[in-house]
Amino acid sequence: MIRRFRVLVLTFACFFAWHAHVQAAAVASAHPLATDAGIEVLDKGGNAFDAAVAVTATLAVVEPYSSGIGGGGFWLLHLSSENRDVMLDGRERAPLAAERDMYLDQHGDLIPGASIDGPLSAGIPGVPAAIEHLSSKYGKLPLSVTLEAAIRYARQGFTTDSHYQRMAGFREDALRASTDAAAIFLKNNKAPEPGSVIRQPDLATTLSIIAREGARGFYQGELARRLVDSVVRNGGIWSMEDLASYRVVEREPVKGVFRGMQIVSAAPPSSGGIALIQMLNMLEGFDRATLTEAQRIHLLAEVMRRAYRDRAEFLGDTDFVSVPVNRLVSKKYADRLAAGIKLDAATPSDALTPVAVGTQKASDTTHFSIIDDDGNRVAATLSINFPFGSGFVAAGTGVLLNDEMDDFSSKPGEPNVYGLVGAEANAIEPGKRMLSSMSPSFLETDDRIAVLGTPGGSRIITMVLLAALAFHEGGDAQAMVDRGRFHHQYLPDKIIAEPSVFSAKLMRALSDLGHQIQLLDSSYGNMHVIVQQKESGKLDAASDRRGGGEALVDSGSVASP
Ligand code: DON
Repeated sequence: MIRRFRVLVLTFACFFAWHAHVQAAAVASAHPLATDAGIEVLDKGGNAFDAAVAVTATLAVVEPYSSGIGGGGFWLLHLSSENRDVMLDGRERAPLAAERDMYLDQHGDLIPGASIDGPLSAGIPGVPAAIEHLSSKYGKLPLSVTLEAAIRYARQGFTTDSHYQRMAGFREDALRASTDAAAIFLKNNKAPEPGSVIRQPDLATTLSIIAREGARGFYQGELARRLVDSVVRNGGIWSMEDLASYRVVEREPVKGVFRGMQIVSAAPPSSGGIALIQMLNMLEGFDRATLTEAQRIHLLAEVMRRAYRDRAEFLGDTDFVSVPVNRLVSKKYADRLAAGIKLDAATPSDALTPVAVGTQKASDTTHFSIIDDDGNRVAATLSINFPFGSGFVAAGTGVLLNDEMDDFSSKPGEPNVYGLVGAEANAIEPGKRMLSSMSPSFLETDDRIAVLGTPGGSRIITMVLLAALAFHEGGDAQAMVDRGRFHHQYLPDKIIAEPSVFSAKLMRALSDLGHQIQLLDSSYGNMHVIVQQKESGKLDAASDRRGGGEALVDSGSVASP
């Protein structure tokens, strides 16, 4: 579905910036109010990290079905003064009272909905800790400034659109089950018509507490007490210790090189960076220019299939399980995997060494990209998992809780309610982070840099792969975002594709190669990309036409109109 799309170049000054070798700044996010909040902070003298705080918090308010203060995410940072990349891991953790079989009944069967609806499905949020960390360690402005827009929109309200109505409609039952969620996000217990105003005074107060006291105001004291009381009263298992002991973790991103293009992407507990680099490594052994179009797509499906098989078997939280990261991203290992790819026939997934894995349905999540005029960069993918997360708002706090616990394998080896199966590596353990597909990434060639990412569940990684290939072929931000999308994830053994990416002729050719193809009813993903020319500093940014976001390039020297 195509929604409103805007790219605004705020000022013609970027043309002069290009000639004068002056850098500009850019923000691309899933909501115009969030992009504007980021630009506002840059114009106040903040850097990319301050802008990231503003965008994160504003998205939490105006795109409540995608991410939030009660959720988590990964912020990939490039610190230009140190020429260093770091990943902030603000992923949710399983509560300390979590048990491996907590979503199973006495017969060992999965309890429908238990890991998706209500506070039992919620991991311990990471966003408040990440916001403070970003601000205090890397930012220049206080939280009172960077959280201002989010607090304003929470208090004054924001206007809903048809996408909001669809998302709230999809989660109406879960939202109705929570008194506070129904009062905030529904109107008369129903998904509101487009044009309705959603005010979140309790969330404004919560954000003001974070602005004043930092993360401590959320994870300790009165607010923490309210969160825990409400969760426990409604069947959840959070404790004060869970909140007090939550820590954001700085991790080394995973890195790779594909034909001269450097890739920096999310490390575990995301599977994204590893799978992305594995797929590119496998592709490196083939001369794609000599292949037919059908063979090129076939080849991509084959590398996707193999990377997703490994994801299912090996990946989990590296603080709890050992993941052979170096081996998985090595060229040698990729060569071995690629040797099994036949250009004239699909490899049935069940011909690969078996692991138990299933489909992971796309639900909701968000991504934004920022570059500032010092060359600092942020690629952040944030989530509360399903649309409106668990649907549960802790009483009196305005905090909508995630249902990220569903990203664990609730019963290793068997599909959960959403068909998701995983291995031991991603089994539930107290304090463990659930495996993610979120893949905020940087790409760099001799002359250009790209900052990118997207929501889309297990399809995130293949979307980033297709965009990375478009960039490597010379495509600009718009071309990367526009590229038609298709996906293979090992099991189910089929290529799924956006409605119009394959012609009838191509479908026949792929089917002759042995592929099963499923065309989806609608497009997917919501990618936000910024591309910078290294020599001139010139920026170009694009927000996915499939979503309602906004990409802005700002010279920084001229105020927004
Ligand atoms: O972390 C993950 O992989 C999932 N919670 C992301 C879910 C998602 O992207 C849904 N987006 N449409």
